[in-house]
Amino acid sequence: MAEDIKDTKSSNQMWGGRFASGPSAIMEEINASIGFDKKLYAQDIRGSKAHATMLAHQGIISVEDKDKILHGLDTILSEIESGNFTFSRKLEDIHMNVEARLAELIGPAAGRLHTARSRNDQVALDFRLWVKEELQKTEAALSGLIAAFLDRAEEHADTVMPGFTHLQTAQPVTFGHHCMAYVEMFGRDRQRVRHAIEHLDESPIGAAALAGTGYDIDRHMTAKALGFREPTRNSIDTVSDRDFALEFLSIASICAVHLSRLAEEIVIWSTPQFGFIRLSDAFSTGSSIMPQKKNPDAAELVRAKTGRINGSLIALLTVMKGLPLAYSKDMQEDKEQVFDAAESLELAIAAMTGMVTDMTIRTDKMKAAAGSGYSTATDLADWLVREAGLPFRDAHHVTGNAVAMAEKKGCDLAELSLEELQSINAAITADVFNVLTVEASVASRKSFGGTAPSEVRKQIAWWRARN
Ligand code: ARG
Repeated sequence: MAEDIKDTKSSNQMWGGRFASGPSAIMEEINASIGFDKKLYAQDIRGSKAHATMLAHQGIISVEDKDKILHGLDTILSEIESGNFTFSRKLEDIHMNVEARLAELIGPAAGRLHTARSRNDQVALDFRLWVKEELQKTEAALSGLIAAFLDRAEEHADTVMPGFTHLQTAQPVTFGHHCMAYVEMFGRDRQRVRHAIEHLDESPIGAAALAGTGYDIDRHMTAKALGFREPTRNSIDTVSDRDFALEFLSIASICAVHLSRLAEEIVIWSTPQFGFIRLSDAFSTGSSIMPQKKNPDAAELVRAKTGRINGSLIALLTVMKGLPLAYSKDMQEDKEQVFDAAESLELAIAAMTGMVTDMTIRTDKMKAAAGSGYSTATDLADWLVREAGLPFRDAHHVTGNAVAMAEKKGCDLAELSLEELQSINAAITADVFNVLTVEASVASRKSFGGTAPSEVRKQIAWWRARN
């Protein structure tokens, strides 16, 4: 320990041991956001260009100064993009880093850019622009995942598999139908994304510190230039609110939960015990000690990313919950949560799209499992209601007796003889065998949204027209 302790003359004796230059260094470390908000450089420059253009248009700054500002900002953009920009922690954040460099490049005209603006509306603008672009990327990624599922569903509209409740075999379904369940979930996620884009599509710039400004600015002009539908209507709300970030995180969390349930199914399906699917080599790994193993690591990691994404939502909800209006520095903690969740979600959707596209469906295994576990028992009961006129409760009881008999004999329902079935209920005829196969069972479930291949094909067509 002792050799780690630096000369603490200039830093606090009690707690400043690790800091070279006293409390101001600690302040800099807790205060600076440049380490992560430099990600907003393009949005910051775009916003500043729109603001400067508006200021000149309104006669608040001169056209010459505006031209210098725009030119300087373009230079900074290319410096950052080519890796030739030195970010400074002393300058705290992306906004001040850009502005300080602008002053170096164009001199006093740089000082006019911040007229009628505050970092409070500036950061609200930059972050909204970033989240909007991220939502647009998420929308496209979800469309890709839906397309992958539609292809697999079409290919396997007739493939039978066991449907489960409580992870116990329930009734036969088609794999196409199961795929389409995920299409519905990701379709709703995409709708949520679209709504969120609508909700945040208002421009914050011009709200200034919190009260608006006395300059004759044109907020409709900047809103239009930045691709927003309109300016925000309340300057206090504009700089206080982060619900667009919370909405992104909520949507991301719900979507991550969907992805995680799918990941869990992939993990289960790819076990030798189930064997419903084989993952491609591209999306699995081997074991360093057990040569026979093929592990679904990508699916497991998608499942785990849900923890991070949900954690980000809780973190930001907690940051925001006690803040008085308007801006407080607490809100600087919004960005890392959103950046991390966005990166995780993008990766998870991409990995899942790859897995769904590449996995091999083992139709033989699915079919064998579909027929086991008395999965057509409900079909027998329904037949008794339909053909023999029994009340459903009685039919349920008769079917229970048939299942017990088959269990005792160690065979399937379809393997019981007609005589055996008739010994349970005399009204049963040979026609019953037409519903005891899994194919007949799924084909009969033609109710709207049901598992019959004909229904599944209708749902696929509905989605194809909307994807
Ligand atoms: N870096 C700050 C943030 O991300 C920018 C806004 C600072 N505003 C202020 N009044 N200190 O929130």
